[in-house]
Amino acid sequence: MTGLLEYFEKNPETSVVIFAGKGGLGKTTCSAALSYYMATVQQRRVLCFSTDPQASLSDIFERDLFGKGEIEIVPNLFVVEIDADKRIKEYQEEVKRKILDMYKLDKLPEEVEEYIESASAEPAMYESATYDAMAELVARGEYDLYVFDMPPFGHGVRMVAMAEILAKWVDKITEAREEARKYEAVAATLRGKRVEEDELLKELLEIKKKMSFFTELLTDSRKTAFFMVLVPEKMAILDTERALEMFEALGIRMSGVVVNQVYPRELLDDPKTPEFLRNKVVSQQKYLEEIKEKFGKYIVAVIPAFDREPKGFEMLKLVSEHLMKSRIEL
Ligand SMILES: Nc1ncnc2c1ncn2[C@@H]1O[C@H](COP(=O)(O)OP(=O)(O)OP(=O)(O)O)[C@@H](O)[C@H]1O
Ligand SMILES: [Mg+2]
Repeated sequence: MTGLLEYFEKNPETSVVIFAGKGGLGKTTCSAALSYYMATVQQRRVLCFSTDPQASLSDIFERDLFGKGEIEIVPNLFVVEIDADKRIKEYQEEVKRKILDMYKLDKLPEEVEEYIESASAEPAMYESATYDAMAELVARGEYDLYVFDMPPFGHGVRMVAMAEILAKWVDKITEAREEARKYEAVAATLRGKRVEEDELLKELLEIKKKMSFFTELLTDSRKTAFFMVLVPEKMAILDTERALEMFEALGIRMSGVVVNQVYPRELLDDPKTPEFLRNKVVSQQKYLEEIKEKFGKYIVAVIPAFDREPKGFEMLKLVSEHLMKSRIEL
């Protein structure tokens, strides 16, 4: 348990890091701290990404970043907070425009309009928009390290499962289009016309290329690290166990567990420690034992509980010291 620095030394090809876990345990805090460290101490070009509608990166970096694109907040550290709703809207507009162009219409038929609206309201649409935004950034390849701060739903693991479903879906459509094109080609030859380039098919293949590149990257444990963040509490332990099972089922290696918000045991030796804090330390000790037993070999870092919310560069620097070079012994 010597911190993430050792992980990066042993896995020098790592270019994507994803912190996953239950809500409110420290994913955003760890994402921000790692990004800050890598950019300032190791001078890597880092992109820290989130789609949290709560704008939590804006909050932790103390700057309004929501929906504003990639912003360099300190040299080498770029932060992007995607406004997923806006992205879905833009995507909707694009689909509508394409249909109008393709069929040379002035106005969309009402059913089509309704269909597009209702498809966009599905939660899967939100996830695809997120996934698409991530895939696009990575495909551009302008950064050394991508840190994805995941929303609390699922475990961030679900995203990989979804990627595979998406890829299959695009496969199916591509196949269907290719079939259709063959027949169109035959029909066109019979009529003595030239076949027009299938714009839609070209686009589908592009999407597929981008997505399979990203999925391959995410499932390559030399390049992508998944860390689960947990705290010494019952529910967080259960959740991490479930996540481990999911990772296994998907054939993905979980890179490690970060134990956050730990009260140092030494507080018990100090007679000035107030009673409620003493109780907290005692209760945590029990769960820490359980964590050691269940995830011992996965634990990569231990971060103490601070007396205030870690926000701003000064605090992030402090968090990153613990995240990168953990000194707390469990
Ligand atoms: N080690 C710590 N000491 C004190 N406060 C902490 C610590 N780690 C995180 N916090 C605080 O706990 C809250 C939750 O942390 P954070 O936002 O990083 O969690 P999250 O997993 O990203 O949550 P969500 O699932 O809602 O996105 C924040 O207010 C944060 O400032
Ligand atoms: Mg968060």
